[in-house]
Amino acid sequence: MKRVEIRDLLKSYKDYADKTISVCGWARTVRDSKNIAFVELNDGAFKSVQIVVEKGKLKNYDEVIKQNVGASFCVSGKLILTPQAQQPFEINAETIEVLGECDTDYPLQKKRHTVEFLRTIPTIRARGNLFNAVFRIRSVAAFAIHKFFNERNFVYVHTPIITSNDCEGAGEMFQVTTLDLERMAKSGKVDYDKDFFGKKVALTVSGQLHEECLTHAFGKTYTFGPTFRAENSNTSRHAAEFWMMEPEICFCDLDELMDNEEEMIKYVIRYVMTECKDELEFLNKFVDTGLIARLTNIVENDFVRLDYTEAIKLLEKVKDRFTFPVKWGVDLQSEHERYITEEVYGKPVFLKNYPKDIKAFYMRQNDDGKTVAAADLLVPGIGELIGGSQREERLDKLTARMQELGLSEKDYAWYLDTRRYGTNVHSGYGLGFERLIMYLTGVSNIRDVEIFPRTVGSIIG
Ligand code: 4AD
Ligand code: MG
Repeated sequence: MKRVEIRDLLKSYKDYADKTISVCGWARTVRDSKNIAFVELNDGAFKSVQIVVEKGKLKNYDEVIKQNVGASFCVSGKLILTPQAQQPFEINAETIEVLGECDTDYPLQKKRHTVEFLRTIPTIRARGNLFNAVFRIRSVAAFAIHKFFNERNFVYVHTPIITSNDCEGAGEMFQVTTLDLERMAKSGKVDYDKDFFGKKVALTVSGQLHEECLTHAFGKTYTFGPTFRAENSNTSRHAAEFWMMEPEICFCDLDELMDNEEEMIKYVIRYVMTECKDELEFLNKFVDTGLIARLTNIVENDFVRLDYTEAIKLLEKVKDRFTFPVKWGVDLQSEHERYITEEVYGKPVFLKNYPKDIKAFYMRQNDDGKTVAAADLLVPGIGELIGGSQREERLDKLTARMQELGLSEKDYAWYLDTRRYGTNVHSGYGLGFERLIMYLTGVSNIRDVEIFPRTVGSIIG
């Protein structure tokens, strides 16, 4: 008999009323009350299905009821509608095959664990409700992003993971080498000529620079892939390996870029709210009781657009509160970002026109000579969700800035070609995908939106 998946069954169970069907999954609970038992069977759908097991009907009744939580079964039985009960239907088992027993040390036998404990069992934790909800939403949000850009004629490009350039210039790269480090340490000398690529290379911190070359071929592109940062930031919002989604648009200025960002965020939220109702209700109940109200508020209201200089004035008015002092020119800390987005406005804020000295070399210099046409999107509960800017399209200005920062023109010659061959006003941004998932789920630690998180001093698997 062909297996029916529980997600499909939940959508069209009425079509199966009184029919015999087959479902496979893992037991969430096995409850035995003498001659009748109940197995809550889960196959990865957010909701489980109740299997009614009657002693008189099953030859292997005793084998079934002695199974532990976590055992896998294949069940055939009749679907019975139960309009009075909490669940709209149940399956009355005719045969049950025990596919795989589960050892008694299976950690999810106990109903509730702390998220800290669950982090120590990354291989198992996806089987519980919290991670089922979070990772379904992660998948649906990724799909929504592809759908959004695909509907708008963007080309999805794959930029290299190994690179010889530090896009953000922050020196936070993981070096990639085939050199024998122990032997080199003994010889006291590093010879990059002998390394795999004949030069020093690292894992990418952003696909942007390579992507810009493709944007100048297609007009509108986006990348969406793994990104690596060797930042020594042990916070709830930083991971060493994370996913970034980076759109890049030719013939587009900063205002048009922010329009795209706002439209994209609202689109993804709406899509997740439609597709993942059960998951969001669960998260709203157990993780963050303000979640659904907050998401609804975001799709219904305009984001704020505020100049960095104005933000500094707002922050300077606040006395005796911040750990890090504020004055024009400083890079904002998360306490400042969160004050602006959470307390002053209570909604997402684009902070724009930052001092050029705290931003990357490729950002377009404003006429004031002090600021660049950058915009970060700050959101309540997270802080910076997106970093973006108009790009410096004027070759002379760009190379002058590179010189000031000590970047070698020769190393970036391939990138500078875009400015020599048909340059144009263009802009792009990078969305931290894990931070988006935190925002969509109310989960407050990045370690719980990546199944195998990589953070300073910590890696499992
Ligand atoms: O602001 P960032 O550094 O911007 C760039 O890398 C640009 N090249 C992107 C572009 O314009 N194409 O990073 C973009 C976003 C941040 O806003 C943040 O959400 C996320 O990436 N991010 C991190 N997320 C998790 N862990 C980290 N260590 C992160 N560092 C940045
Ligand atoms: Mg940034």
